[in-house]
Amino acid sequence: MRASAIAQPNIALIKYWGKRDIERNLPAVGSISITLKDLFTEMQLEFDTSLDADSLTVNGARDEAMLPRLSTCLDLVVGEDRPRASIASRCNFPIAAGLASSASAFAAITIAAAEATGQHLDTAALANLAGRSSGSAARSLYGGFVELENREQDVAVRELRDAASWPLQVVVAITETGPKPIGSTEAMEISRKTSPFYSNWVEKQNEDLALARDAIATKDFPKLAAVAEHNCLKMHSMMWASRPPTVYWNSATMHCLQTVRKLQRSGLGVFFTIDAGPQIKAVCLPEHTQEVRSALTATAGVVDVMLTGIGEAAHCLDAT
Ligand code: DP6
Repeated sequence: MRASAIAQPNIALIKYWGKRDIERNLPAVGSISITLKDLFTEMQLEFDTSLDADSLTVNGARDEAMLPRLSTCLDLVVGEDRPRASIASRCNFPIAAGLASSASAFAAITIAAAEATGQHLDTAALANLAGRSSGSAARSLYGGFVELENREQDVAVRELRDAASWPLQVVVAITETGPKPIGSTEAMEISRKTSPFYSNWVEKQNEDLALARDAIATKDFPKLAAVAEHNCLKMHSMMWASRPPTVYWNSATMHCLQTVRKLQRSGLGVFFTIDAGPQIKAVCLPEHTQEVRSALTATAGVVDVMLTGIGEAAHCLDAT
């Protein structure tokens, strides 16, 4: 009744924002992401009938904040009458700061829970289960370039292209390491209920998905850059126009954006994307990585810079 699994976070190039079914956590729109390589969450899980309650440690310290969502995830995978579990999570990047820590956490724990209880589920089933806990987690079940497609009753996730066949690099500029002011689940509902741009966002998403899918198929970097930046800025505009407004950016986010614009003007292959947090992810052609990294490191307000490639799918490490 024990297993461990590892998952990498993913970053969306065409974003998921908004839900069509809150109960089943089904997204309102499809999305396209890249799974990262060097950032990870590892979950060790042990079910034990002698335990009275679930417990969680994150990097060795007890953590109560994330525990209720992880417990609900275990209920979904194993059933509510399951034994209680002790969960030990290890993560090598800031948590809840807009770096998709929930995607890697829920992908890893879903795999570990299924394996620990002897359910050898296929990747499609695991992705749907992980997505019930956190929509973006479904994508971390796959490596490389990943598309999540909305279907009638569930989602279908697939790899569009593997990591090795287009080895783009990602420079993550951290501008703040604390937790974000509002979680994405709550902020999405505020956007859906109050943003005047929400319906347009949902309506136009298929156009952006088609452009990105095509750009990835043909390895057309400028085309991918244009649609990814457009989609990201649309998502944030929708949040800014909600009531109350959701603003994840800080002044350093804006400085980073200007740095990326300057690099683009000088001919470098780079584009930015920003999720539910103030960090900038600069996706770049391998030959331009060092210049992008130096420029972002030197940008005002950047506290740390991480470099990663595109990685593989989440997987089980061991199970007994
Ligand atoms: C901005 O997957 O964290 O990163 O399903 O409510 O857990 P829940 O939301 P979550 O939202 C991710 C939002 C995003 C865009 C994306 O990853 O597609």
